[in-house]
Amino acid sequence: MLADRLATLQPSPTLAMQAKAKAMRAQGIDVISFGAGEPDFDTPRRIKDAAVRAIESGQTKYTEVGGIPELRAAVCQKLKRDLALEYAPEEVTVSCGAKHTLYNIFMALVNPGDEVLIPSPFWVSYPEQVQLLGGVPVPVVGNPTGAVFSAAALRQVGELAVERSLWIVSDECYEALTYEGRHVSVASLSPEIKARTLVVNTCSKAYAMTGWRLGFAAGARPIIKAMTDIQSQVTSNPTSITQWAAVEALAGPQDEIAKMVGEFDRRRRVMVEALNAMPGIRCVTPKGAFYVFPNVSGLFGKRWKGGVLKGSADVCAFLLDEARIATVAGVDFGSDAHIRLSYATGLETIKEGMSRMAAALRKLDG
Ligand SMILES: Cc1ncc(COP(=O)(O)O)c(C=O)c1O
Repeated sequence: MLADRLATLQPSPTLAMQAKAKAMRAQGIDVISFGAGEPDFDTPRRIKDAAVRAIESGQTKYTEVGGIPELRAAVCQKLKRDLALEYAPEEVTVSCGAKHTLYNIFMALVNPGDEVLIPSPFWVSYPEQVQLLGGVPVPVVGNPTGAVFSAAALRQVGELAVERSLWIVSDECYEALTYEGRHVSVASLSPEIKARTLVVNTCSKAYAMTGWRLGFAAGARPIIKAMTDIQSQVTSNPTSITQWAAVEALAGPQDEIAKMVGEFDRRRRVMVEALNAMPGIRCVTPKGAFYVFPNVSGLFGKRWKGGVLKGSADVCAFLLDEARIATVAGVDFGSDAHIRLSYATGLETIKEGMSRMAAALRKLDG
C-alpha cells in the first residue's frame, strides 16, 4: 500500500522515547527523561519580544521562500562574526529547522544509488534522510561522540573533498555548546574547501528555540538556489514570525549563550562522574553538545526480570522499567554498545536520575 521508500524508514527514536516518557508521566508514573535533544531553558525574552512585535506589526504573511532579507543578512553577519566566514545573502537559505535544511540538501545533491559517507556513531536522521531519497548511507566508523574536531582533522576531510570533488555537509548545530577546545568550521580552512561545503546551523540549540523551527544553510549559489526551489514546492517559507525572532536571536546580544553553556558544563561533569562510578559503565567526557554516550556493553549478559540484557535497546528498556529513567538506545545511532543520555535537564534531576540508575544496576544478576 505504501510507497517502496517507506520500507526502511524508522521513525525518529529520540522523539519516540520522549513521547513514551510523556505518556508514562500522564499516567502518573514519575519518569525522568534523559531522551530530549533540546535545552530545558526558556527562549530568551528579547527573542520572544521580537516575535510579538512581528505579530503586532502584521508580519504574518508569506515571505520570500528562502527567508526575509533581514534574516539572510543576520545569518551572514553571524557567520562572519563567529567564524570569519563571508557569504552573500544569495548564498544563504532558511528552512523549518536544520532537519529540514539537511533534507533539502540531500534532495538537491543525492541521486538514487549515490553513496553518502556518514561518520558513525551518527545523528539518527542523517542515514534515514539519505535512504528516503534512494541514497546509500556509508558509515565511517570512529566518530568519537561529543568530540570537538581539531582544525587539522577537519583539514584532512576538506582536502579529501576537494581532491575527489565531494560535497561536505557541515552540521554545526552545536557550535555554541563547546566546553573544551574551539569550534572550527571546515569551511573556514581554505576557499577551495569552502566552495565544496554547505554550512548548516539552527536557532534550536544556542537560543533554546527548538519549537520555533528555524534552520539555515550557507554555501554555493546553485545548491542554495536548488534547495530554495525545492522548498518553494514543499513548505514555502519558514514561519514569518519565527524568522523575525531569528533575526533578533542571531543579530542581538549573545550573552545568554555563555550562561547556558556554563550551566551545561556543570551538568556534564556531574553526569559523567556519576556514570563512571557505576560498575559496567564507561563514559568518555564529551567536549561539546549536551549528550553523553556511555558504553554499557559491560552490562550485557546480566539478567533482570525482563530477561537478559543483550544490547542497547534492552538496557534502555531495563532503565525505563526499573529506574524510571528514559534514555535512547545507541543502536539507532550506529553503536549497539552505547546508550545516549541528554544532560539538557536540571542538575537536581540529573542527580536523582543517576542515583536511580545506580540503584537499578545493583539489582542486576550475573
Ligand atoms: C546533530 C543535529 N543536527 C541537526 C538537528 C536539528 O535541529 P533542528 O531541526 O531543531 O534545527 C539536531 C537536533 O536534534 C541534531 O542533534
